[in-house]
Amino acid sequence: MEELFKRIHTEDIQENVFKLIGTDWMLIAAGMPDHYNMMTASWGTAGILWSKPVIITFIRPQRYTYELMEKQAFFSVSFFGKEHKDLLTLCGTTSGRDLNKMGIDGLSSVETPNGTIGFKEANLMLECRKIYFDDIKPEFFQVFDIEKIYPAKDYHRFYIGEIIQAWEKKPIA
Ligand SMILES: Cc1cc2nc3c(=O)[nH]c(=O)nc-3n(C[C@H](O)[C@H](O)[C@H](O)COP(=O)(O)O)c2cc1C
Repeated sequence: MEELFKRIHTEDIQENVFKLIGTDWMLIAAGMPDHYNMMTASWGTAGILWSKPVIITFIRPQRYTYELMEKQAFFSVSFFGKEHKDLLTLCGTTSGRDLNKMGIDGLSSVETPNGTIGFKEANLMLECRKIYFDDIKPEFFQVFDIEKIYPAKDYHRFYIGEIIQAWEKKPIA
């Protein structure tokens, strides 16, 4: 990990988080080095909570990633350049139940000292410890058109991840 990425403070992340998450998309990875899975997400938020830097991901219960998120204390969120958009589309349209995403060409895993999975091709990776989760509850919607997003009533579970380390790709020497 340390050969390819350097540790940075979350305050030194230069990119606009709205663009990173909403436009460029993120890849959420969960699991163990010998059995992990990843999915694309474009809904989420990053900031400060309980005086900690956090990222909050929203995962529907039918995702394979959800199953792995439930089992592990750590997960990661990675951001890539435009050239990887096709791979993000693949990870966002195919389930790990149907395709072994560990074998996808162009997404090579890398492990942090803590055992969290990231990807060599990423520009930025946020290593997270799950510190809280809850499910979206329809009875609390204050704007009623949000319900339309859930015709199957598959309300997202959100995971608040404390960012224990931000890793930025080192420039190629
Ligand atoms: C651009 C994009 C954004 C997505 N955002 C989310 C999201 O925020 N939450 C979610 O549950 N699914 C989201 N998805 C859908 C999952 O990535 C998709 O269902 C994926 O196949 C799940 O993979 P898995 O079953 O291997 O976990 C998104 C898909 C795309 C293409």
